[in-house]
Amino acid sequence: MRQIGQDLLNPRFSMTLKPLAYEAYQELADAYAANIDSKPHNAYYDRPAMLSLLPDIQGQKVLDAGCGPGAYAEELVARGAIVVGCDISERMLHLAEARLNGTVDLQLVDLTRPLSMFATEEFDVVNSPLCLDYIEDWQSLFGEFRRILKPAGVLLFSCGHPAFDAEYFETENYFSVEKVECTWTGFGKKVLMPSFRRSLEEIIMPAINAGFVIDKVHEPRPTDDFKKADPRRYKSLMHRPGFLCVRAKKAD
Ligand SMILES: C[S@@+](CC[C@H](N)C(=O)[O-])C[C@H]1O[C@@H](n2cnc3c(N)ncnc32)[C@H](O)[C@@H]1O
Repeated sequence: MRQIGQDLLNPRFSMTLKPLAYEAYQELADAYAANIDSKPHNAYYDRPAMLSLLPDIQGQKVLDAGCGPGAYAEELVARGAIVVGCDISERMLHLAEARLNGTVDLQLVDLTRPLSMFATEEFDVVNSPLCLDYIEDWQSLFGEFRRILKPAGVLLFSCGHPAFDAEYFETENYFSVEKVECTWTGFGKKVLMPSFRRSLEEIIMPAINAGFVIDKVHEPRPTDDFKKADPRRYKSLMHRPGFLCVRAKKAD
């Protein structure tokens, strides 16, 4: 078992140039972990939608890219997968380590850089929920996801819905990939969260250009549990999607 706690103290993990949302997630990590099992947008909206797209992963090797405190990784293990979880936030990885208790290989990885720590055709599935919004260059990352996936491997990701985000951030140019920020309070802690907003074309085409075939696009509806927890936002999400989920397969 890898000793992630010790690895994180290793100077080879020290990254001088931190990616966009690093500081915000370091600050938010504890509150995020404390709420992730009941926060409606995660527990009753993104997660059920993404898990409904997951193929049979019994005995398969899965990369949980941007694993946060490990709620997805826990579920992937429960479904019989051999799971590698990676994230840029050391604090998130410590919380994931506490939750997952050695069942997942956790690694400190910046997804804005080449994924040279992973072998070509190492994984059957790459799962990346709600992480890509913090990465500007999807083309390079999807090229790396394609490289590390086995033939016919599956890429699954969710992100902010382009229609919702364009309105929410009052964008002046829908077509641009633009840096935006907003104040998050939903996890019980006020954090200024930066991200990249992009168009539908900028979400779909990098996957196709990298050699994926999109086989499912899902605009989720909130579940009944969401309605019980937050009826006002439930009503809104039943009419205007907040997230977009995409499943793609590595093309021949
Ligand atoms: C909204 S959280 C999602 C966590 C988890 N996937 C989930 O759905 O519960 C976004 C995660 O992406 C991670 N992240 C952001 N930028 C990253 C990067 N450049 N490389 C790796 N992880 C990154 C953050 O640290 C955070 O844990």
